[in-house]
Amino acid sequence: MHPLRLRLLGLWNTFKPQSYRPVIPSQVDHGALLSDIADALGQPPERIRDLWAGYQGLMANKDHVNTLGQIGTTSSEEAFALHCLLDFARPENLIEIGTYQGGSTRRILDSIDQLQLDTAVYTYDIEDMVRHFKPDEARLILRDVSGRVDEEILDRYPPGIIYLDAHPWQLLQDVLRAALKRDDWILAIHDCSPILCNPKMTIPKDEPRLISTRTGHWERHVLADVFGVEDPLDKRLDKLETQSHALRIFGTQHGLALIMPKALIRA
Ligand SMILES: C[S@@+](CC[C@H](N)C(=O)[O-])C[C@H]1O[C@@H](n2cnc3c(N)ncnc32)[C@H](O)[C@@H]1O
Repeated sequence: MHPLRLRLLGLWNTFKPQSYRPVIPSQVDHGALLSDIADALGQPPERIRDLWAGYQGLMANKDHVNTLGQIGTTSSEEAFALHCLLDFARPENLIEIGTYQGGSTRRILDSIDQLQLDTAVYTYDIEDMVRHFKPDEARLILRDVSGRVDEEILDRYPPGIIYLDAHPWQLLQDVLRAALKRDDWILAIHDCSPILCNPKMTIPKDEPRLISTRTGHWERHVLADVFGVEDPLDKRLDKLETQSHALRIFGTQHGLALIMPKALIRA
């Protein structure tokens, strides 16, 4: 798209009158979150409560909320869900897609340290904006894996966890569809809350530079499409099962989706 047209469309999408006005909640129901995580991972609730108690200490020691923020990045509650996932899966690798300044990477690295895991972290972006971790802590890879998720990730690393926090429609489609073909990779996706879902998206799917909180995000649209639900705001998307996978969207600030192969929950 021509840069001038892109700029005009960006301005129009930011300032046009519309009914879609997302307000991201600052409070999360911690009781509901802990019980949803226990349920999704098939873990005893007391295990998740113990992890939560330990996680409060970690957050306070590292001053995560003040140094990394809570909105527009992976919040403490979302990072805690990833912490429980790491504790559950104890993976060889965690692959993040969408690094930005490395706030979420920092939280993940601190969890790996606290849980005494030997998990390697690879984090993909298309631009280096990293501030919160050092090159010897996680490997930043500047590459767009759209259309090449099998070669670039699933067949390249031993199975583990993918944390997808980048917004392009094509990338979301490709990562989700590729992960669902496997029963050995766990996928978590940020920004799946109904609050960030504008049911009447007006931006083109092939122009990721226009996506913002004001336009709405594609995440729930893509989940609805791939899981065969017509309306992206349908509540059934928040807890859904296929023959091979279970999808759960936790009620956090931005909505964290967890897509688990059922074979791993039973194991
Ligand atoms: C919402 S930010 C990530 C925030 C970060 N995970 C955190 O919690 O602090 C989204 C990032 O995705 C990156 N991105 C956009 N398109 C991408 C692509 N095709 N592959 C990888 N990263 C991409 C952007 O450059 C941006 O840094």
